Amino acid sequence: MKLTLKIWRQASTQAQGKFETYVRDDFDAAMSVPEMLDHLNRFLIKSGEDPIAFESDCREGICGQCGFTINGHIHSSDAGTTTCQTHLRSFKDGETLWLEPFRVGAFPVKKDLMIDRSALDRIIQSGGYISVDTGPAVEANSQLISHETAESAFDSAACIGCGACAAVCPNASASLFTGAKISHLAKLPQGQVEAPKRVLSMVQAMDAEGFGACSLVGACEAVCPQGISLANIAQMNEEFRKAWWG
Ligand code: FES
Repeated sequence: MKLTLKIWRQASTQAQGKFETYVRDDFDAAMSVPEMLDHLNRFLIKSGEDPIAFESDCREGICGQCGFTINGHIHSSDAGTTTCQTHLRSFKDGETLWLEPFRVGAFPVKKDLMIDRSALDRIIQSGGYISVDTGPAVEANSQLISHETAESAFDSAACIGCGACAAVCPNASASLFTGAKISHLAKLPQGQVEAPKRVLSMVQAMDAEGFGACSLVGACEAVCPQGISLANIAQMNEEFRKAWWG
């Protein structure tokens, strides 16, 4: 399979970047996008060139490390799909692909297609946890949680922290991410003790990292590979209102 790859190359955060063109006709349609880059990198390394820096870990759509844009699409033009789960069979033989890192002020480019997502880690560190006593696990049936509540909390907890929500948002807002991290704990009894402190800290941390406010454009929900719902932002706002006004 022949592809022309226009890939963003940037040596460091401070360096100026630009697109470089690579043409190969020996890609396999069964390759995923990271496998395509592995394949290209083998040739770059052999010829003494700097390989393309990109991130991936699980390569099965659950770690959130691999995101960049392909032909302007966040992650992938396939709905609900991470970059690592996008395969070359989604493209036409002879097609040109433009690969570019997510463009968000809070995610500086580290190198080529790699960005620094640690702003999201700092939001979680500010309150995305519960405090529990050490010791043996509590008997599960001592605190009954309805199936519906458990499923809803799990849907929120499915956020993989890839940053696609902020990358597609015209305000570069991380409200879908932060809302999901607040909501999955707010829905469960274990999350109630620290709930007011948590929402205030996490929203403050989100603002401090330079993410914008949500104006309900809804693009975040549309590109989220995990299908995280806008309802998580509504719940974050409600939790914030309760914590602020009592
Ligand atoms: S590498 Fe883990 S989600 Fe893509």
